Amino acid sequence: MEPFINKFIEKMTSKSFYVGEQSSYDAERYSNRQETGSVQMLDPLNRLNGQAASHSDYSLIEQDLNRMSLNIIDSITNGIQGSGEYAGGPTQLTHPLLKSIGTYYFEMKGKRIRPTVLLLLARAITSNDCPSEPISESQLKLAQVVEMLHTASLVHDDVIDGADTRREMASVNCAYSNKLAILCGNFLTARTIVLLSTLRNHHVTELVSNIISDLVDGELMQIKSNSTSFESYIRKTYLKTASLFANGCRSIAVLSGADANMTNMATEFGKNLGLAFQIIDDLLDVTGSSESLGKPASVDMSLGLATAPVLFALEEYPDLEVLINRKFSESGDVDIANQLVLKSNAIEKTKSLAIEYCNKSIEFLMKLPQSQSRDLLITLTQSKVIRFDLIGLKSTISMSLFVKCSVLIIDGIGCRI
Ligand code: FPP
Ligand code: MG
Repeated sequence: MEPFINKFIEKMTSKSFYVGEQSSYDAERYSNRQETGSVQMLDPLNRLNGQAASHSDYSLIEQDLNRMSLNIIDSITNGIQGSGEYAGGPTQLTHPLLKSIGTYYFEMKGKRIRPTVLLLLARAITSNDCPSEPISESQLKLAQVVEMLHTASLVHDDVIDGADTRREMASVNCAYSNKLAILCGNFLTARTIVLLSTLRNHHVTELVSNIISDLVDGELMQIKSNSTSFESYIRKTYLKTASLFANGCRSIAVLSGADANMTNMATEFGKNLGLAFQIIDDLLDVTGSSESLGKPASVDMSLGLATAPVLFALEEYPDLEVLINRKFSESGDVDIANQLVLKSNAIEKTKSLAIEYCNKSIEFLMKLPQSQSRDLLITLTQSKVIRFDLIGLKSTISMSLFVKCSVLIIDGIGCRI
């Protein structure tokens, strides 16, 4: 193992590395670029060398997740409990179609990555590793809010992208219609806001409201921008994906009554995880097969979008700029761009970029006191970024039983990597 990682682990296992104390550790400084240009993933728990978490570990949040899923269906079909005396009336008048379309994506459990992260974080912040001791109702609600909001945004996104599949089934717009999908997304968002309001917490309301405007801002930026700058790509990625993780994690910390230091760490963890997660998604779009993704592959370029792999390829093949500027609109553009991505070091560089963000989020997690929940979050963070290995790409990271086990374990609780 590289000396810098040893040094890092040493630091992390010493008690002085806990929350509340300023750490001089700087991930950038220790980033270890190998000859290939790739970056090593931090592995403070030595998980990448074969030590998988066991199924019983994940049972820590299984009940929370299942309760949340039931609550989602209930919130959509019966309205939000505790939302005031007036709620009973209009709720009963809800059109039956809204109930069936609204619950459509939730009937399949989906990956539930966002609530999984939030529920584990809630436990990690309060060092609550006891499954029989539930997390607070407000934190469970927040996880529900975030999952519903995310799903609402996907329903709208599929209309914008003209997608016909989602979660290995027909997308809402395809199964019903664009008009009904727009209404469904609005309905889910409205129910989410009512649920959010029952937290009676202005700070969290502000954070979640920012997620909504960021989602829209990011989507618009994606549609309208033809910038080839990385700055613009990362900004768009923050707005579209990482803001939800960042503000969601921040809200969990606020609801825990955490101090400013802890709240900022939770936010940074979420932000960096979100960025890493989306960059890997963008990579998979180029390299994955529709079978492994549960949705069509290579859609980004077909939609005219230039994400990290193309932007890195552009550094080596400047002629790509013409194709990017015309949004890959001419026949053969997508194929040419795909070939240049594969021919260049773009895939390696994209992985490295994701690992850099992943390392930053692990670094923040390591500032929390040791707990089973925190360690599971580290494992989950690593597995979200290593998922490119699962579809057959050669990785510079040590691929191990860990990843395969993680798939089985998380599959067991309906949260497939
Ligand atoms: C997936 O993008 C989409 C998002 C992460 C969010 C898009 C946001 C909106 C459409 C605004 C929603 C607004 C409200 C009010 C809910 P993708 O197309 O890159 O991913 P995909 O491959 O999963 O479709
Ligand atoms: Mg889409």
